[in-house]
Amino acid sequence: MRKIYVFDTTLRDGEQSPGVNLNTREKVEIAHQLERLGIDRMEAGFPAASPGDLAAVNAVAKAVKNVTVIGLSRSREQDIDAVKEALKGAQDPCIHVFLATSPIHRQHKLRMDKGQVLDTARSAIRYAKKTFSKIEFSLEDAGRTEYDFLVEMVNMAVEEGASVVNIPDTVGYLSPYEYGNIFKHLKENVHNIDKVQLSAHCHNDLGMATANTLAAILNGADQIEGTINGIGERAGNTAIEEIAMALETRQEFFQAKTTLQLSEIARTSRLVSRLTGMVVPGNKAIVGANAFAHESGIHQDGMLKEKTTYEIMTPETIGLKESKLVLGKHSGRHAFRERLIDLGYELDEEALNRAFAQFKDLADKKKEVTDEDLLAVIEEKLQDA
Ligand code: KIV
Ligand code: ZN
Repeated sequence: MRKIYVFDTTLRDGEQSPGVNLNTREKVEIAHQLERLGIDRMEAGFPAASPGDLAAVNAVAKAVKNVTVIGLSRSREQDIDAVKEALKGAQDPCIHVFLATSPIHRQHKLRMDKGQVLDTARSAIRYAKKTFSKIEFSLEDAGRTEYDFLVEMVNMAVEEGASVVNIPDTVGYLSPYEYGNIFKHLKENVHNIDKVQLSAHCHNDLGMATANTLAAILNGADQIEGTINGIGERAGNTAIEEIAMALETRQEFFQAKTTLQLSEIARTSRLVSRLTGMVVPGNKAIVGANAFAHESGIHQDGMLKEKTTYEIMTPETIGLKESKLVLGKHSGRHAFRERLIDLGYELDEEALNRAFAQFKDLADKKKEVTDEDLLAVIEEKLQDA
């Protein structure tokens, strides 16, 4: 089974979510949990962005032991120097240098032609190479870059000795077919492509970040980049927990796996949500409150007979205790009776029928009927009897 390396950028791209600002203590707390989760590489921040971020990256670099710690840098010597400073004390440091390659970015943002982009990136990698043995180079907005220029840029990065080349869909523009095809094209057209790892980095503007990342894996990507809970710029980045669980649940299809400790997923998600203040929507895949909850009577009956009828993965795998059967207006007698048994009540048929009718009346008025509501219904019925 092919190993897919996990590059977590919760502390950098994730922190770029509007309204999120993590202090050093919070970054270190998340970094320790990411280490427990077993990620391979961690982007701790963008040291040139502010003295505070440089200090936070340095604190993370010193705090974690078993993970490669990465600092982001534009293709500029001052940025590279800032990463050098920030990663002092790291066990396994790596610099992440980037430059935009798409026509839109070349023309409007960089005001450079292709030759200038190529030369600027080459000089930056050479300069970084004086300090770092591990370099990741990213072609920002690769998703909207001409195929021949992508090949030229990746050839250059391989020649200059980058260890990882990242192909970001910076604005979440591509479909899975198109994104996967870029990896296929690079594998077929770049000289010595086996000397580098190719990395997928997707944004979720059209809700396709996870699908695009999986398409990249199917077409030979060695590394995936993402964040916990999918937080990040605009609509966010690929959610790492979604990739990990897709590979775990559909191993036979993807023939690839991460080495994450999957049972740490729920805890990591809760910590990131609490410290960033980014609430996880209830219906979020894998880590939403409803991801393992069942409300309708038909589903609950199936679950009580055999869990695989309605669950393709177990809550225990991600570190949760159990699935939830939520009692609401769609619920049936089977789940109702089981919940009463859990609460210590085994009613005869007639009492159960009366209690169930009253429960349905209540369920029409409330979104969820809690255990306290049920106890009130039962106590009332028992007093009537
Ligand atoms: O989305 C992007 O292009 C980035 C780069 C800095 C890698 O985050
Ligand atoms: Zn990004």
